[in-house]
Amino acid sequence: MVNTKVILSGITLDNPVIPASGTFGYGYEFAELYDINILGSFSFKGTTKEPRFGNPTPRIAECTEGMINSVGLQNPGMEKVISEELPKMKKVFHKPVLANISGFSVEEYVYCAERINEEEQVGIIEVNVSCPNVHHGGMSFGTSPEAAAEVTKAVKAVTTKPVYIKLSPNVTDIVAIAKACEDAGADGISLINTLMGMRIDLKTGKPVVANKMGGFSGKAIFPVAVRMVYQVYEAVKVPIIGMGGVSTAEDVVELMLAGATAVQVGAANLVDPFACKNIIEALPHVMKKYGIKDLNHIIGGAHK
Ligand SMILES: Cc1cc2nc3c(=O)[nH]c(=O)nc-3n(C[C@H](O)[C@H](O)[C@H](O)COP(=O)(O)O)c2cc1C
Repeated sequence: MVNTKVILSGITLDNPVIPASGTFGYGYEFAELYDINILGSFSFKGTTKEPRFGNPTPRIAECTEGMINSVGLQNPGMEKVISEELPKMKKVFHKPVLANISGFSVEEYVYCAERINEEEQVGIIEVNVSCPNVHHGGMSFGTSPEAAAEVTKAVKAVTTKPVYIKLSPNVTDIVAIAKACEDAGADGISLINTLMGMRIDLKTGKPVVANKMGGFSGKAIFPVAVRMVYQVYEAVKVPIIGMGGVSTAEDVVELMLAGATAVQVGAANLVDPFACKNIIEALPHVMKKYGIKDLNHIIGGAHK
């Protein structure tokens, strides 16, 4: 018997596999395909204060071993998420979840955090700081240590649940931003969000996605995720949830060796809706193959 249980801020997960925000909805579509209670947890779709209809279409561009999306945080807004989506989610998933929240101002983050903090099933609040700050020329909160720290501090002041800040990889120094969030009180760090990318259609000579650029994710970004998790692990003491291009149980082990306590799976769910189930089922075999008895023993193992 191998031990796949890991602990995030006092919450025990049966395994470290967590579908990433925006790629698993609120779980109920996937629950029609398999019992999603085998998951360690999942991070539901990014929620903003008001409903968002998202960006114009087309919003997706296929790439070699990955995809570009410019969905634009489409979601029904906090009120409807609480009154309609979370009750449906609760029927199919019976473990604590990660509530992914977004905002275009510090006030919006505070509103979302305060509201979602009251929801019983929310175990961790995951704050996506990749959004543009409308009060500061649209620069993303996640690209400045000061702005990321400001959001962290403000959210921590109105919540009682663990707060994980989800970082953008579109920065020069990810370590400075992670450290600023930890110093501001973050209970954990999630990384990485999508990398900015772009494709051009040769037939039209124009960008493939209507918004021109979008977030690049999927298998191709995995080495970037490993590098960033490794760097951040050296600099912070709080737990890290690693993600970016994970599609196999081997990838989970590799990100944990880099320093992740748990691992999220994003684009792979869109390629194969059974991706997380397959990873969870393969994990004990991969652990045995590499002589790993307990996943907790390998967290940050590559640093020793
Ligand atoms: C279609 C799509 C929608 C996403 N929506 C969100 C979101 O609402 N909030 C968020 O923090 N990240 C969002 N992400 C980013 C993922 O959660 C994840 O960080 C990123 O895709 C890297 O992981 P992957 O390579 O496994 O997809 C989205 C990604 C995709 C592909």
